[in-house]
Amino acid sequence: MEFSQTIASRHSCRSFLDTPVDTATIESVVEMAQRSPSWGNTQPWRIWVAGGAAAIAIRQGLVDRALSGNPPIPEIPMPLTFKGELKSRYADIGKSVLAVLGIDRNDEQMRNAHRANNANAFGAPVLLYVTVPEGQTPYVLLDAGAFINALCLAAADQGLGTCIQATLAHYPDIVRQNLPIPAEERIVVGIGLGYADTACQINRLRSIREPLEKILTFTGFY
Ligand SMILES: Cc1cc2nc3c(=O)[nH]c(=O)nc-3n(C[C@H](O)[C@H](O)[C@H](O)COP(=O)(O)O)c2cc1C
Repeated sequence: MEFSQTIASRHSCRSFLDTPVDTATIESVVEMAQRSPSWGNTQPWRIWVAGGAAAIAIRQGLVDRALSGNPPIPEIPMPLTFKGELKSRYADIGKSVLAVLGIDRNDEQMRNAHRANNANAFGAPVLLYVTVPEGQTPYVLLDAGAFINALCLAAADQGLGTCIQATLAHYPDIVRQNLPIPAEERIVVGIGLGYADTACQINRLRSIREPLEKILTFTGFY
């Protein structure tokens, strides 16, 4: 795929087929992502892959915990609120997802079902957990972010869907029960990986971006 096509085709996949993904494909995606830059080439990222029964156990554990109303206890603090334009953009994507799913904002039952689906990684057969070592500066998260983006693009290039999900990192004890993550590693996010259910409307949703002039400032050009 042309790089511009790969960039354009990547989007958050919110409905996966249960078709398995073979380990050789996952290895090639991770190997491509490893070319990402990092501070002093420290490469602080580590990836923990759950498939089969391990993925199902994590997803089920997360769904049960989310539905029991337990507050999230992530290892990396997560934003509770946003200011100004960030707040409205955050609200807009939430509204768009619910609208495509045909869920009324006041329909608490359907919203809970969507929360459960979120915790269930939208049915992704593979979960990738990204960790960084504890006790470092926030730059390890910048490095992890570069890695995660490259990983999602590499997956898109292989025809695979991804969804980066903070939700999958809400209850680290469940993740740690099922993956051999050392205590000194901090879980950043989980990423659902698999083949997209292209027949599902939610996978037709494309999030919008601001016009270029809003984010881009040239100085010193004629
Ligand atoms: C750190 C991070 C956490 C996210 N967590 C979730 C999540 O828990 N559930 C979800 O449906 N999408 C999640 N997303 C996906 C974003 O909503 C999505 O990337 C954004 O709306 C832009 O849409 P796009 O990925 O389709 O381009 C997350 C994305 C990032 C980068």
